[in-house]
Amino acid sequence: MSADIAAKPGPLPRASLRDTLAAVAEIVLPTISKGVIIRRPRVVGLAERLGLDGRAVRRMQRLRAKYGPGPLMLAIPGRNQAIILSPEDVHTVLDNAPEPFSPASAEKRAALAHLEPHASLISRGPKRDDRRRFNEQVLDSGCPVHRMGERFVAVVGEEARALLKTAGSRGELAWDDFTASWQHMVRRVVLGDAARDDEDLTDMLARLRAAGNWAFLRPQRKGLRDRFYERLEGHLARAEPGSLAAVIAATPQTADTAPAHQVAHWFFAFDPGGMATFRALALLASHPDQAGRARREIGAAGPEGRRDLTFLRACILESLRLWPTTPAVLRETTRETRWDTGTMPKNTSVFIFAPFFHRDDENLPYAHSFSPDLWMDGVRQGGWPLIPFSGGPAICPARDLVPMLGSAMLAALLDGRQVALKDPARIDPGAPLPGTLDNYTLRFDLRD
Ligand code: HEM
Repeated sequence: MSADIAAKPGPLPRASLRDTLAAVAEIVLPTISKGVIIRRPRVVGLAERLGLDGRAVRRMQRLRAKYGPGPLMLAIPGRNQAIILSPEDVHTVLDNAPEPFSPASAEKRAALAHLEPHASLISRGPKRDDRRRFNEQVLDSGCPVHRMGERFVAVVGEEARALLKTAGSRGELAWDDFTASWQHMVRRVVLGDAARDDEDLTDMLARLRAAGNWAFLRPQRKGLRDRFYERLEGHLARAEPGSLAAVIAATPQTADTAPAHQVAHWFFAFDPGGMATFRALALLASHPDQAGRARREIGAAGPEGRRDLTFLRACILESLRLWPTTPAVLRETTRETRWDTGTMPKNTSVFIFAPFFHRDDENLPYAHSFSPDLWMDGVRQGGWPLIPFSGGPAICPARDLVPMLGSAMLAALLDGRQVALKDPARIDPGAPLPGTLDNYTLRFDLRD
């Protein structure tokens, strides 16, 4: 959004009906079908086989070539829908949250109301400010190492050891065992050791999330939601030392904070952290030079230094660049906004498609290769929007915590053993990396 003086009068460019249909079919529908609130594994597998994410990026490139780099309105009857096509406009939208670009878009409110109606992400005004502050304080946003880092990394190590035992007895490391172990770790980190085996809690949330995938098309399951929150509140009330629940108990709250609803969001958001970690393991298993760097870092850090493994954190971020787990970053305008190319009405839904910016091979020489160095030195990104955790005032408050836990998990799995993909053809380091990587079907051989 440029200064209002430079703004061109009249509406923004509008896509033809044909281009709108193509954008909806190739970009919007595959993103929704994979499951926005909880993934549908079969659709993720199909997306990899059919190369749907690569096709979506190419469609975005064609739209930019045809209509120019400014925001483009889609021709959807009864709805103001804009898509963002330039890096500058991504920054403008993200930097100007929550006004005039509110993160609490209608789609997100409809989906997340099923499970966490008072979450920061779908709140507005002073309530949002209070809930956002609470999230930042408890998650130590902006601090590379959380105040409980030492304890959390020890928990990761314990769960990784148990996972390695299971993998050893099965003869392979596969997703089901990995995700079970990740969830043990997450429940311990968030609620404490007593919650480690409370799979019912995670299952209840999974059912609410499945309803959330259907947004306003599905009635809310209020009974299930009440039971979920009763159980969650019970865990939080223990404020178990060494967990985020203890940090919550020591953090100022108002009548509006709704801590349990913020925590529900964390549980839901830890899932993609596991996916990114498993995919990063696949990248390292297929790139021996980078795996060597990782081992040298692990060796030099020793068990004490696992809180801050710069290179392995970069591998988690790179996994999220290549396969962003929040591909659609959505905003809604709270007033009319003016741009170089025209005016965008109030209540426009603004769509930023992260894979387009992360994999734009017309502009990025590294688009389809494993390049963790991009994250070791922010300058190498040259202001280009690599936004796995979004950006601006509504950036993910766990952008440090997730790489800390993921890198500690990678270190525990790689330390002292060789890790190989069972199906090495899935990732060929000499070829462009696939647009989608189905984490559910990755399997690894582990050798001491
Ligand atoms: C790989 C893991 C994760 C990724 C890629 C991720 C990414 C994101 C993104 C892109 C947003 C912005 C969404 C939007 O603007 O619509 C966001 C928001 C948020 N994330 Fe994460 N996230 C992850 C994990 C987590 C975890 C584990 C937590 C909590 C422990 C968390 C807490 C939040 C919260 C509270 C918000 C809302 C912020 C606000 O209201 O301003 N995230 N995250």
